[in-house]
Order: sequence, then structure tokens, then C-alpha cells
Amino acid sequence: MSSSRPFDTELPLVAAPMAGGPSTTALVQAVAGAGGLGFLAAGYKTPERMAEELDTARGWGVPFGVNLFVPNDQPYDEQALNAYAAELADEAAALGAEVRFAPGADDDHWADKIALLLDAPVPAVSFSFALPDRSLIAELKGRGTVVLQTVTTLDEARAALDAGVDALVVQGPRAGGHSATWTPTRAIEDFPTARIVARIRALTSVPIIGTGGVDGPGTVREIMAAGADGVAIGTLLVRAEESGASPVYQDALVSGEFTRTTITRAFTGRPARGLHNGFIERHGEHAPTAYPAVHRMTSPMRTRAWITGDTDRLSLWAGTGFASAQAAPTAQILHGLASQLP
Ligand SMILES: Cc1cc2nc3c(=O)[nH]c(=O)nc-3n(C[C@H](O)[C@H](O)[C@H](O)COP(=O)(O)O)c2cc1C
Repeated sequence: MSSSRPFDTELPLVAAPMAGGPSTTALVQAVAGAGGLGFLAAGYKTPERMAEELDTARGWGVPFGVNLFVPNDQPYDEQALNAYAAELADEAAALGAEVRFAPGADDDHWADKIALLLDAPVPAVSFSFALPDRSLIAELKGRGTVVLQTVTTLDEARAALDAGVDALVVQGPRAGGHSATWTPTRAIEDFPTARIVARIRALTSVPIIGTGGVDGPGTVREIMAAGADGVAIGTLLVRAEESGASPVYQDALVSGEFTRTTITRAFTGRPARGLHNGFIERHGEHAPTAYPAVHRMTSPMRTRAWITGDTDRLSLWAGTGFASAQAAPTAQILHGLASQLP
């Protein structure tokens, strides 16, 4: 199939990067085997672990990508953070965990991760949360790496194009997990991914991968019809056989206990969409915008909640299509999603 996709894969489908467990090397390999393009998620990983995964993926001899979080620490209100820590004390006590108060910067090992990508280039890199320096984009491109930038608004798209990226990942507000917004304080209005894809398509002819809110083959068709060259699937791969998501999380998506998703800062201090549970209900309105300080603050609590299977206090990231997430081999899920494409 010829296209303007960065890689001429058989299917216009991409496995969206999902940090925190789901994006295993097995998932990315299965996506490649099914004719799509898979992304590894380097976020939250040590550089050593990232390097191991890249070595594994290089051994396949097929295109793949890796996603990084770009440091985007914003000034935040210390008092609000203190107040939020106090508010979470009862939750922590119920879990037998601490509220870890750890303000300050945390760049997720940015420099070491970039050094790995410059020393041993990979086929594709995507960036989320902010735009890296244009000099870095040029350096990566000079090494033969296709550089993609995740954008959520027209202004972000314009800035990314101006900085010289090869392709855009256009994330709509119905996406599961963190919004890739560069402005985490902003309100995130609801609309279908196809709408923002069409607006950004009007700006540029570079390849666009649309992502967010896919609930079946009809949404994939709509996003493609709006001008995308590919569609990235997140939540609908969380229950794939090759996913590394924990059984508690996989089951929660389809248990019927959760009927909707919400965008919340309650777990990490940055807007993210997840199954609407008690923790979001109790704290969503009070959480300050302070990433990664809130992420680190709640991390011991979330670890305890995973261990004890406490879905009322877990961050269960999910896009609006979550109820359609099937437990099936990745190839079967992707072929089903491509089934209404012309
Ligand atoms: C569990 C989970 C983890 C995610 N981790 C990342 C990540 O590491 N980097 C990133 O750019 N986006 C991440 N996302 C967002 C996805 O890449 C993608 O934009 C989103 O899943 C698409 O929406 P959908 O879930 O409705 O398909 C994550 C999403 C989920 C559900």
C-alpha cells in the first residue's frame, strides 16, 4: 500500500506508546508482524532498561519507534502541593503507604536517554509533553531517525513543523493516559480526534498519525477520512495478549464497574484520562497542576494499590473507547480495526 506514512507498513495502524507496563517489546513485535508500526515507551524507565528494549527491537530488522517524555517542569504553588499531600493522608493510611513529599525537578533521565538515541540510532522517535530543541531534532534526523512530535492543538502543530519534525502525532482529547499537551494547566475541551486531525491537515502535508478515543473500526475510518495517514491505538491494545498491563487493570476496563472516563490531575499533577473511580471522585477537583511532583507523591500509594488490587485508588488510564478493549492477539485486534478502511 503506498502512502505518505513515514514507513510504508501494510496497515496504517500504529501501537501508541504506553508507559507503565502495557508497551512490551512483544507487543511492538506483534504489531510489526501484523503489518503496523509499534512504539516502545521509554517514559519512567531507566536508561539501562530502555537500552535493553532498543537492542531487542533492533534485532528484528523491522521499523519501530520509541517515545520519550520531554521535560516540561512548570512552576507550581508549593502551598497547594502541601495541602494536597495533607488531603491524601487518609488514602495513604488506608493503603498502608506513605505520601511521598518530593518536590523538585525530575527529567526522567532525559540526557542519558537522548545519548542512547544519538549513539545507536533507531528508526523513529516520538516526543510528548513538550517540543525538544530544534538542534536535537536536526541531529536525530541527521542520523536517519524519523522524528515525530505529539501535538494537541494547532499552535503546537505549527511550532513542531517550524522546528523541523518529520511527522506529527495528533492526539485528541478522548485519548487514554496523559494528555500530551505542552500546557498542562489548560482546560481540555472534548471533541473527536477527527476534528483536530482535519484542522491540522489543512496546515501541512507532513504525515499525520491521529490518536485518541478509538472504539472500533468506524473511528479509525473517520480519523483516516479526516486526513490522517495512520491511526495510533492505545487503550484497545491494553488487553492484547502481548500487552504487559497488569491483570487488575485489564479486568477493570471491562468489569462493568466503571462506566466512564474522566480527565484528572489527581494521580500525577498533569491531565490524564482514566476510568472514573473513587480516588478521582474524591480528589480530582483539588489536585494542583504539578507534574512530576504529584506523580512522585502518589507513586508509593499506587504501588500499594496495584499489589492489593485496589481499583478505587489506582490510576486506570483509559480512553473513551475502553469498553471495546478485547482480550485477543494483537494481530487480530489490529485487523479488526482496519476492517472498514477502503
Ligand atoms: C496506559 C497508557 C500509557 C500511556 N503512555 C504514554 C506514553 O508513555 N507516551 C505517550 O506519548 N503517550 C502515552 N499514552 C497515550 C497514548 O500514546 C495514546 O495517545 C492514547 O492511548 C490514544 O488514545 P486511546 O487510548 O483512546 O487509543 C498512554 C496511554 C495509556 C492508556
